Amino acid sequence: MRPGGGPVVEDFGHAPVLVREVVDLFAPVPAGVIVDATVGGAGHAAALLDARSDISLLGVDRDPIAVEAARARLARFGVRAHVARGVFGELEEVVREALRRFPDDKGDDIVGILFDLGVSSPQLDRPERGFSYRFDAPLDMRMDSGQDLTAAEVVNTYDEKRLSQLIRSYGEERFARSIARRIVEARPLSTTRELVDVIRSAVPARFRRKGNPARLTFQALRMEVNRELPNLASGLDDSVRLVAPGGRVVAIAYHSLEDRMVKERFLDITEVDQLPVVLPGEGPEPEFDRVTRRAVKAQADEIDSNPRSRSARLRAVERRRKMVRGSTVQRAG
Ligand SMILES: C[S@@+](CC[C@H](N)C(=O)[O-])C[C@H]1O[C@@H](n2cnc3c(N)ncnc32)[C@H](O)[C@@H]1O
Repeated sequence: MRPGGGPVVEDFGHAPVLVREVVDLFAPVPAGVIVDATVGGAGHAAALLDARSDISLLGVDRDPIAVEAARARLARFGVRAHVARGVFGELEEVVREALRRFPDDKGDDIVGILFDLGVSSPQLDRPERGFSYRFDAPLDMRMDSGQDLTAAEVVNTYDEKRLSQLIRSYGEERFARSIARRIVEARPLSTTRELVDVIRSAVPARFRRKGNPARLTFQALRMEVNRELPNLASGLDDSVRLVAPGGRVVAIAYHSLEDRMVKERFLDITEVDQLPVVLPGEGPEPEFDRVTRRAVKAQADEIDSNPRSRSARLRAVERRRKMVRGSTVQRAG
C-alpha cells in the first residue's frame, strides 16, 4: 500500500490517484454494478471490489493493452468483474451490450460510474506509442491502436489555422501560432524527435528553459487524436442517463478544460435555477445532488509519492432517490 491509500499496480506500472477518496465516495451507493469507464490497470477497480463485497464491476477501456492488464488484475474477483474494450463516448451502448453478455446476479442497476481521465503511465512511458516528447518514436499517440487518426496525420494534413487553434485551445500554448507555422513549413514530419525540434525552433530562447517546450503541443495533439473532450461530453451525458437512484458519478480530471466540462455538466444537473421557472414548490426538482462542493485534490503525501496526482481534480454527483411525502424511496429504473 502507498500513502495515498491504494495499492500500486506493479505490472502495468500505473499508480492510481485519490484511491481512498474514490472508495469512500462509492461507500454509500446501493448494491449493484459500478462502471469504471477508464479501467486502465484496474487500480481503482480492484480497490472498489475489495471494499464492497455487494458490488460487481464493469471496467471499460479503449486501449487493448489496458484491457488485458485489467482482466489479469481483476481475475481473482471471478464473475464480480468484467472488462470490455470500448470508448466511453459511447458508454450507454458499451454498458448495455456488456450487461447483456454478462448478466449480473445482483441486478443490473448501475450504482456508480467512475472516470479517471487522461493517459495512463504506460501509455506515456512506452516509447513506441509516440505519446512522449522524451523519446524518439513514430508520431502515433492513439490510445486505441485500431483507430485511423494518428498524430502524424494531424500534423501533416491539418491546415495552419486549424493546427494553431487546437494547439492554443487544448494545449493552452501561447506560441501556438508560430508552432503551427513552423510545423507546416517543416512537413512531412514522421517522428516525435522531428516534431520536438520544430517546436523548439518556434519558441523564443528565453522561454525554452521552463521545462520541455514541446509539452503543451504534445498534450494538444494527444487530445485531438483521441477526441478526448468530445468523448467526455457524451460520456458524461450517458452517465447521467445510466446511473440509478442513489448512485454516483465520480470524475477525476487532470486538464483544466476537462475539469471545466465536468464542473459545468454537474452544475447543469444539480442546480434548480438551470430548470424552467415555475411557482415555488411546484417546479421540477434537479435529479442530482452535488456530493463535492469544490474539486477534491490530492494531499501532500500523495503528491510526494505520485506527482501525477498534483493536477487531479475530483468531482462527484449523486442521483436522488425519489421523494414520496417526505420519505426517501428507491425508484425502479
Ligand atoms: C488515467 S488512466 C486510468 C487508470 C485507472 N484508473 C487505474 O486505476 O489504473 C486513463 C485510462 O483511460 C483510458 N481512456 C481514455 N480515454 C478513453 C475513452 N474515451 N474511452 C475509454 N477509455 C479511455 C486510457 O486508455 C487509460 O487506460
